[in-house]
Amino acid sequence: MQIHEFERGLQGRVAIITGAAVGNGRAFCERLAEEGAHIVIADIADASETAKAAEAIGATVLSLNVDATNPDDVQKMAAEVMKRFGRIDILVHNVGKYEEEPFELLSFDQWRQMLDLNLNSLFLTTKAVLPAMKEGGFGRIIALSSDTVWLGTPYLTHYVTAKMGVIGFVRSLASEVGKYGITANAITVGLTAIQRPEQGGRVSSSILEHILPSQSVQRADEPHDIANVVAFLALPASGIINGQALNVDGGVARH
Ligand SMILES: NC(=O)c1ccc[n+]([C@@H]2O[C@H](COP(=O)([O-])OP(=O)(O)OC[C@H]3O[C@@H](n4cnc5c(N)ncnc54)[C@H](O)[C@@H]3O)[C@@H](O)[C@H]2O)c1
Repeated sequence: MQIHEFERGLQGRVAIITGAAVGNGRAFCERLAEEGAHIVIADIADASETAKAAEAIGATVLSLNVDATNPDDVQKMAAEVMKRFGRIDILVHNVGKYEEEPFELLSFDQWRQMLDLNLNSLFLTTKAVLPAMKEGGFGRIIALSSDTVWLGTPYLTHYVTAKMGVIGFVRSLASEVGKYGITANAITVGLTAIQRPEQGGRVSSSILEHILPSQSVQRADEPHDIANVVAFLALPASGIINGQALNVDGGVARH
């Protein structure tokens, strides 16, 4: 069988990663760079450390100041990427916000902001990149969700609703775009080590107490664990996986 040049890793592919200035997003940039992809960082914060890390691996990096909830920003992002690279192959929808609030204290503003950042941004970025993916006959939309959607974790009605929405989105979109060589999948991520208070994270000890003892793999999830799954889903060889939610959480939830 003849192997197409692109079928060795992600050489020459163009990957946009939203929310990649820090955290999981930085690990995704590094991992996709290792596979040979050109990296586009889309964040509202300074992403120079991520850019340096991906460049050190050998990637060509384009760093853009993008508010993923702003329709104009997101459209401009797609236009700039097309101008610079002429193609968009991969969108990692990583931007998201975690916040605990008991439902009885949750305001409508908090609810709206949560849906805006975690879910509406996925609508906007997908709208922006889809024409280029269709044109290229290849696309990988990979959206970050959370294992809390399977667990019923308390104080997260707004977060879990948004992250379940992400799954609904990829399930339905997959049916429309699969025929163009485009896949849309979600990853339901568990609590990663970066969220622990000792690592500067924001997760309360009550949530940690609830989740950590129930992990069947006796070590914390690290960003590189999730990054390996992002790279796997991005590969051309994964083109048969579509509309799925892959659970990656050290074996807490069974899905
Ligand atoms: N870390 C975890 O334990 C965990 C667990 C489950 C799911 N997740 C999901 O993984 C994703 C990444 O999580 P993380 O912990 O690495 O996040 P993080 O909070 O560490 O980083 C988020 C990034 O998004 C950027 N950002 C915020 N608002 C933005 C906007 N409007 N436009 C563009 N960029 C914006 C921030 O500047 C930051 O760089 C999120 O979707 C999160 O819900 C994380």
